[in-house]
Parts: sequence; C-alpha cells; structure tokens
Amino acid sequence: MTPIDESPMPNPSMTPETLIPTPTKGCLYGLSLGPGDPGLITRRAWELLQGDGLWAYPVRKWGGDSFALDIVHRAGLTLPAGAFPLCFPMTHNPEVLAKHWLTAAQTVLEHLDRGRDVCFLVEGDASTYSTFGHLARTVSALDPLIRVEVIAGVTSYQAAAAHLGLALADADDTLAILPAGYGVHTIDHLLDEFDALVLLKVKPLLDDIIALLERRGLLEYARFVEKVGCPEERTVQDLTQIRGETVNYLSLLLVHNPHRNKEETLRGCRKKEASEGEGA
Ligand SMILES: C[S@@+](CC[C@H](N)C(=O)[O-])C[C@H]1O[C@@H](n2cnc3c(N)ncnc32)[C@H](O)[C@@H]1O
Repeated sequence: MTPIDESPMPNPSMTPETLIPTPTKGCLYGLSLGPGDPGLITRRAWELLQGDGLWAYPVRKWGGDSFALDIVHRAGLTLPAGAFPLCFPMTHNPEVLAKHWLTAAQTVLEHLDRGRDVCFLVEGDASTYSTFGHLARTVSALDPLIRVEVIAGVTSYQAAAAHLGLALADADDTLAILPAGYGVHTIDHLLDEFDALVLLKVKPLLDDIIALLERRGLLEYARFVEKVGCPEERTVQDLTQIRGETVNYLSLLLVHNPHRNKEETLRGCRKKEASEGEGA
C-alpha cells in the first residue's frame, strides 16, 4: 500500500523562500521637519507623523530637550505612545560618537526587526549635515536589508533667505554651503571663488568671521540669522552688534560678495577657453 502523504499541499504561487513566513521588517524614515516653523513641515512628513511609525527623537544628553521634538509640539502634536529618545552628544571624539551611533542604531533595529516603522525626527533637512546620515549608515551596516527612506525638508538657510527676502543665488551666481569650522582662511579663499556663502555652525568662530568680513568690506552684504522659524528667532543686519556675543548653536550667516571677479559668460555659460573644444 502506498503511504498517504499528509504534508500540506504546497501553494503553487509560493517559492521555497516564501514558504517560511518571515516577519516584514519596518522602514527607517529620516523625517525632515524644517528648521523651526511648523508651517514648513511637508505634507509627506505630516502624514508620517500621524501614522503608526514609532517616533525617535535626538537629544544631546539623556533627559535633555530635543529641538526636533519641540517643532512637532509647536505644530500641535503630542508625544505618541512608544516614542523614544536617542542620545547623540555634542562631541568631536570619534570613539564616543561611534559608540553612541551604534547604541542608537541597535535600539532602532530592535523595533524595525519587530516590523515597526521608525520615524527619526530631524530638524531642517535630513540630507543636510544631519545625524540621520550617521544613524542610517550604522543601521544599514548592521542589517543591509533594512529599508531607509529620506523625507526631504526645508533647510535652515533656505528658510533664513526666505525670511530675509533675499535670494540665496541669482542668475549665474555660484553658491557654497559649508560649516564655518573650516576656518577664516578657507572662508577668505571661498569669498573669491563663490558669489554667495552659507556658513553654518558659526558660533565658535563668529568674531573671527566678522573681522574678516569687515577687512574685506563685506559687512553690509552679510546677515546673521538665529533660530529661524522659532519664537526666539533673531536676524541681525549689522554684524558689529553681535561681536563678542555667545550666540545660539542654531545660527548661520548668509554672505554675498558683489565684488567677486566673475568670468565672462555667454547665454549663461562660461565662455570656452581657446584650447577647449578644439580638435576634440
Ligand atoms: C548639524 S547642522 C543641521 C542642518 C540642518 N539639517 C538643515 O537642514 O539646515 C546645524 C547647523 O544648521 C544651522 N541651523 C539649523 N537650524 C537652524 C535654525 N533654526 N536657525 C538658524 N540656523 C540653523 C546652524 O548653522 C546650525 O549650527
């Protein structure tokens, strides 16, 4: 007698892999919130904030405030159940930073592994000098199959320019965006190379930059903006007024150099050098 095969009938649509049910892992979102004004939260970010993804928000020390969380609170949202902080201290020590990125990534991964989406709240834009980049890279290194999605947002300097009614760049202007920590020597050089500079993280070097701009006759073409879009927002037109002041970390400078020696352009393009395009 032929033995009866009592194993379940295989579903013809199933591949050997799909026969073993694997829980779907969650997605890690870099949720850009804009620089402070809740009105600059995009519709996409707003939808995700109202969804069932867990919120993760950055703090500089355990129990400390979170600027990103402050933005969503000012937008009228309250902390949902399950939201959790991730600690990223303000230090340049690479070992301390790596340790905290790893701890944060492991925490996030526990939730993703259980199938929960995690929305990491980011001040400004998540692709612009953001902790999210480090977090996403560390999570992906631990599990390359995790899905990561960045929700684009308004940057601090876009909001600052708009608030001041200034163009960041016009016509054929060149624009450089950099952390001021590169130092006055680099900034001095870039003022010859670019029509406009956005200087972020200016706090530690502010007096030196003011002195440079004064030396180069550019003070009147520079603006200082602190905590744009927040209730404490401040813009300063005469930079000599803030000389010697300890300003907020969330502050930046927009500088234009109208004296820059530009190369001639033809219909918006640089004229070709005599040797360029010849004999090619
Ligand atoms: C780590 S970077 C983050 C940049 C941010 N992801 C963005 O999209 O603008 C921090 C620097 O951005 C600038 N910044 C961020 N938010 C700001 C705000 N609300 N007002 C003025 N500057 C801000 C400051 O120069 C600050 O030192």
